[in-house]
Formats: sequence, structure tokens, C-alpha cells
Amino acid sequence: MTRRVIRVVSREDVPLVITIERSSFPRPWDEDIFRILGSWRGQVRTQRRKTVFMYVIEDDDELAGYIVWEEDVESAEGHLLNIAIRQQSRRMGMGRELLDYALETMREHKMASCRLEVRESNTPAHALYLEAGMSILHRDSAYYEDEDALVFTIML
Ligand SMILES: CC(C)(COP(=O)(O)OP(=O)(O)OC[C@H]1O[C@@H](n2cnc3c(N)ncnc32)[C@H](O)[C@@H]1OP(=O)(O)O)[C@@H](O)C(=O)NCCC(=O)NCCS
Repeated sequence: MTRRVIRVVSREDVPLVITIERSSFPRPWDEDIFRILGSWRGQVRTQRRKTVFMYVIEDDDELAGYIVWEEDVESAEGHLLNIAIRQQSRRMGMGRELLDYALETMREHKMASCRLEVRESNTPAHALYLEAGMSILHRDSAYYEDEDALVFTIML
């Protein structure tokens, strides 16, 4: 069994995070978002008075993936924004560990629910979310330019 640790993202993690992001998504995030989160120890307040959190997972001291979510204290809603595991570490349970960690942290922060949007074609991610107890709320044809999104939700 390998040694796994989930911890706050650091500035030093950012280059590897960007590599994983580029190899995981057809439209990767702007790299500056990760630089900002790395510089602020994985916790940033947005202009809309929400808080964004970012954590990484290490497997035997190597960065294997990350998760980003947003919390809105006023609506008590969490919003999963990004999750990725590097190619060679997939199907080893780490996506699930990160997701469970994020949902548990949202619960501790008194969020009442969590939602997320995912591409309709992303069946590995659908399977992960369903296995974690989330359900499909509706389809959103306006979320991505080139494909429908499915909106998943879970009560916390
Ligand atoms: C989605 C992703 C994060 C899953 O991470 P992972 O570490 O491989 O997932 P886990 O090993 O924790 O899988 C947990 C469960 O999810 C389901 N699952 C995960 N990947 C799957 C796949 N490729 N096919 C079918 N089911 C899958 C399975 O039920 C799995 O449990 P099992 O392995 O015991 O059958 C990973 O595939 C990834 O990084 N994809 C690219 C980025 C991405 O699409 N992110 C989601 C954006 S919304």
C-alpha cells in the first residue's frame, strides 16, 4: 500500500498541477488561477464573497492530483470546480479520496449541498460522482460551448 496524503496546495506544486491540468482537459483552466491558489495556500476569497479552496493528493511523496471547490456562505452551497488525477494514477481510488475529503470539509463548513457540472461525454467522472452518492439534477446546454453539461448534486 502506498502512502497517501491530502494537503493544501503550495506554490511549488503549481508546475505539476498545470501539467496534469493540460493532459486532463480539452480546455484547461488559465494557469494563473493555480498560481494564485498556490500563492495563497489554497484558499482565496472571490469578488462575489465566496471562498475557493484547493487541495492536492500525494502518493508516496509525488503529487498525483488535485481538487478545487467554492463555498458560498450565504446560500450554504458548495460548488465543485475542478478535480483531476494524473493519467498513471487513475483507477486507484484517489479521485474518490479527494472528492470525499472535499465533501467532508464542506460539511464541516456547514454547507448544505454541493453541485458540479460535468461534460456529458465524461463517463469516468459520472461514475465517480454516482459512486460517491451524487445524483443528476438536470442537463445544462449552455454551460459548455461545444457540449451539454450534466449537473450533479448531493445534500451534505
Ligand atoms: C474523473 C477522475 C478524477 C477519476 O479519478 P480516479 O482516481 O481515476 O477515480 P477513482 O479511482 O477514485 O474511482 C472511483 C470510482 O469511480 C468510478 N470510475 C472512475 N474512473 C472510471 C472509469 N474510467 N470508468 C468507469 N468508472 C470509473 C468507479 O466506480 C471507481 O471505482 P472502482 O475503481 O472501484 O470501480 C479521473 O478520471 C480524471 O482525472 N479524469 C480527467 C479529469 C476529469 O475529467 N475530471 C472531472 C471533471 S468534472
